[in-house]
Amino acid sequence: MAFDAWAPPPAGPLALNADEVHVWRASLRPPPHVLARLEMHLSADERARAARFRFAEHRTAFIAGRGAQREILARYTGLPPHAHVYAETSHGKQSLAGAAAEQGIRYNVSNSGDLVLVAVSRGRELGVDLEKLKPMPDGIDIARRFFSAPENEIFAALDEAVRDLAFFNCWTRKEAYIKAVGEGLSMPLDRFDVAFAPGEDARLLRTRGDEAEAARWSMAALDPGEGYVGAIVVEGDGWRPVLYDFGSV
Ligand SMILES: CC(C)(COP(=O)(O)OP(=O)(O)OC[C@H]1O[C@@H](n2cnc3c(N)ncnc32)[C@H](O)[C@@H]1OP(=O)(O)O)[C@@H](O)C(=O)NCCC(=O)NCCS
Repeated sequence: MAFDAWAPPPAGPLALNADEVHVWRASLRPPPHVLARLEMHLSADERARAARFRFAEHRTAFIAGRGAQREILARYTGLPPHAHVYAETSHGKQSLAGAAAEQGIRYNVSNSGDLVLVAVSRGRELGVDLEKLKPMPDGIDIARRFFSAPENEIFAALDEAVRDLAFFNCWTRKEAYIKAVGEGLSMPLDRFDVAFAPGEDARLLRTRGDEAEAARWSMAALDPGEGYVGAIVVEGDGWRPVLYDFGSV
């Protein structure tokens, strides 16, 4: 089952309990007045990065994604959106630094197509991934490069009609785990297996080398809307996803 009940958020600051993970869905193509508001939140570095994009659509997507991220985090930290300061690991995973760091708020972001997902937790490490679906005529070859041997065996046996969706389910679930751990592609992709066959619930099945690692995380599939798939991996268990639609803010 994939979680799909995106709802308008309540107004004002949001409480975030340790047994919840809030996932926000926002458009990377907002109307001009929303884009203008979001742009005002960006730091000098983010503005400089936005200015370097050669294509307007990439610039718009960057401004919309970073601006929405800042407005969303402000709901939890109580800071104005522009006041958030980020730290970054050597592998590129961002976290809140400065005044907001002590509140235990963790977040992770994924962009694809016209959407961005921002997942937020309190005190739990997490990773989220989103992919826009597209035909994958070379799916089997790509899977051979990126999926583990047990995953490839399952993937190759699937009926062609369900293969593209299964490909992106496997991809987002693996990517969400990599992003939760935070080591980027320095983490070998064949070192762990995820459940992704049609009808199977999202799960981190096996982590080779450290068998206890799989039990440290839990995974859920997200349904971000027609033509997209998503997945989230969160430290520990006993949490539930709460889905918010930024578009209705
Ligand atoms: C960078 C990476 C973390 C995700 O990249 P991606 O899927 O192209 O992009 P997403 O939009 O999902 O994620 C980007 C966001 O993740 C965050 N991020 C960056 N490095 C990260 C890391 N090491 N860990 C967790 N999050 C990270 C950042 O917030 C980034 O946002 P930004 O682009 O605004 O700076 C990395 O895993 C990667 O390069 N993957 C390539 C794809 C691949 O080969 N996957 C194999 C799956 S089978």
